[in-house]
Amino acid sequence: MISIETTIFNKKFSNCLMNASGVKCMTIEELSNLKNSESGTWITKSCTLSPREGNPSPRYVDLKLGSINSMGLPNLGFEFYLDYVLTEHEMGNDNLFFSIAGLTLENNIKMLTQIENSDFQGLVELNLSCPNIPGKPQTGYDFERTEEVLKKVFSFYTKPLGVKLPPYFDMVHFEMIAEIINKYPIQFVTCINSIGNALYIEDESVVIKPKSGFGGLGGAYVKPTALANVRMFYKLLRKNISIIGCGGVETGRDVFEHILCGASMVQVGTQLMKDDVKIFSKLSSDLKEIMKSKNYTSLSDFKGKLKEL
Ligand code: SIN
Repeated sequence: MISIETTIFNKKFSNCLMNASGVKCMTIEELSNLKNSESGTWITKSCTLSPREGNPSPRYVDLKLGSINSMGLPNLGFEFYLDYVLTEHEMGNDNLFFSIAGLTLENNIKMLTQIENSDFQGLVELNLSCPNIPGKPQTGYDFERTEEVLKKVFSFYTKPLGVKLPPYFDMVHFEMIAEIINKYPIQFVTCINSIGNALYIEDESVVIKPKSGFGGLGGAYVKPTALANVRMFYKLLRKNISIIGCGGVETGRDVFEHILCGASMVQVGTQLMKDDVKIFSKLSSDLKEIMKSKNYTSLSDFKGKLKEL
């Protein structure tokens, strides 16, 4: 019997796959589709304190090897998603993720204070890495600011919380951010968000409207960077911090590689956008096939066990 169940914090999930925040998780209908899919859990669209329209369109384009987006955090506002997760809680489901991405530290504190004082018992993913808000730097690239945010958050917040990070590229930066994260009672790290501010051109023009065509790159383009981030954080973070891998997952083999690098859970973004929720059953059965061919019966048989030369 092959199991692809996994654990994050003290929560067990029957399947190690879920959506990446931002993809098909904004409305009740989209969230219900995720809930009823074969994914092990799901996450809400990163929300801001007030509802947002997001950036002007076109703001998402499918590319041969992935996608480029500059959505700009379109969402229905914090109250909407808080109501949603509390309704799930009343139905007995606390095995889901609530993503927040305040435009200011004060807004993040306001949202987390309300979550802290609510009945929500799921997992919060604090997004420190959206590259698509004109004029707002990605917090995760500013180490002092990241430390300030975490210090303030954990001065009052006691529920399970993880952070969504941007991709890092420099060994020293991995070490610096890991040192900060290791100081706080963080339960998981999601890596990576899109590679920010890429430029894709067709004929003689950019393909998305916001930010003069600059947007976050996802899909196959980013898989090696995603795997490197999962691997480095698996090595550098405290062992009780779970890694949620995200980036370039199109096949069961991609899921397998994320887990081999150290991921406990794997998020799907671009390919979910292309194939909708049926992708989860395909990825699950492909992953099980690979495990079967290698005589692995559970994720712990290979999680983090990437061979080095
Ligand atoms: C967006 O809404 O711009 C995408 C969210 C993100 O990259 O964190």
